[in-house]
Amino acid sequence: MVGMRIADVQEDTDHELISKEEISDIINRAAAQASEDYRGKNPLLVCVLKGAVNTLAAFSQAMSIPVQMDFMSLSSYGSGTESSGKITVRQDLSTDVRGRHVLIVEDIIDSGITLAWLVDELKRRGAASVEIFALLEKPARRKVNVDVKYKGREIPDEFVVGFGLDYDEYYRNLDSIAVLKPSVYEGGQA
Ligand code: PRP
Repeated sequence: MVGMRIADVQEDTDHELISKEEISDIINRAAAQASEDYRGKNPLLVCVLKGAVNTLAAFSQAMSIPVQMDFMSLSSYGSGTESSGKITVRQDLSTDVRGRHVLIVEDIIDSGITLAWLVDELKRRGAASVEIFALLEKPARRKVNVDVKYKGREIPDEFVVGFGLDYDEYYRNLDSIAVLKPSVYEGGQA
């Protein structure tokens, strides 16, 4: 078999949380709904780098209407893994969103701080509408409310990798989503 499968990262992962097939089902269902909702609206899909790249690729290919895509890199500063709420644009969109129907395609919503900021920012720039598809949500970590129109799956507060999600920039190319063993990120032996 080609590609990185769960068997290839067995030593680092505790268990597979969401299979490749389930990821496809979630994305295909949301993309079908979005295709209906955005018919005739020429939506702009906005991908927040880097984690959402895999989700954007699959989501856009599952859409049956013409779409455009653009990318943005954001960083939030805070202590450790906690976001402070101060967002900085590392790389901006190349598209003028004025009057556009924007659909943000995200891999995961954690505190909600990144997405809450981005929705406000795109509206401030004059987008006609701003909605969200999020493949994963961790409700236990939510700090600010974000309205997610196209919902994926809720997951427990565990360290997950794969399908774009990383630890130390690795595992993004795993084709499913798995829970990382704490020993990996605590620096011990897996
Ligand atoms: C993740 C994810 C969101 C953000 C969500 O990106 O892709 O953009 O965190 O967190 P929040 O809801 O607490 O704001 P990350 O900062 O890990 O960067 P990456 O996508 O480059 O891995």
